[in-house]
Amino acid sequence: MSGRLDPDPISRRDFLGLAGLWTAGAAILGSLVAMARLPVPRVLPEASTRFRAGSPLAFPAGTTTLLPERQVRIVSTDRGIAAMSLVCTHLGCIVGEAPNGFACPCHGSKFDAQGRVIGGPAPRPLRWLHVSQAADGALVVDTAREVSPDVFFQPMNVG
Ligand code: FES
Repeated sequence: MSGRLDPDPISRRDFLGLAGLWTAGAAILGSLVAMARLPVPRVLPEASTRFRAGSPLAFPAGTTTLLPERQVRIVSTDRGIAAMSLVCTHLGCIVGEAPNGFACPCHGSKFDAQGRVIGGPAPRPLRWLHVSQAADGALVVDTAREVSPDVFFQPMNVG
């Protein structure tokens, strides 16, 4: 006679049936969890190093324009357009304009108008950045590509 403390032995057929049900349940549950995670990207994209600076017409020859939100200074000359980073090469503070160029508020580095170090702990000049032009004519600055300070981009005329 069987009781709570001495249950009937489960038959092999019932055991296999229950095992199949548990396996199918686990597979369905795993699939649902995986499908619920599909809309969430596993890898978040990094911010682009390129940005549109605007139409070349906004930078007439002989002008310099600060783009503080991008930490870049656009220099436009007869030779073309160049972009200089305003990120200090010491520890990355943003330099500000000073009477003879730029000064870093953090540790006192000073740079001339071309970005060359004239004082302070900065180990290198300010970086000059690659400038190109998008299909619609807008200037594109790539903060990840450094160019020589004497490289100027000559934009094509746009309407
Ligand atoms: S971060 Fe500019 S001098 Fe240190």
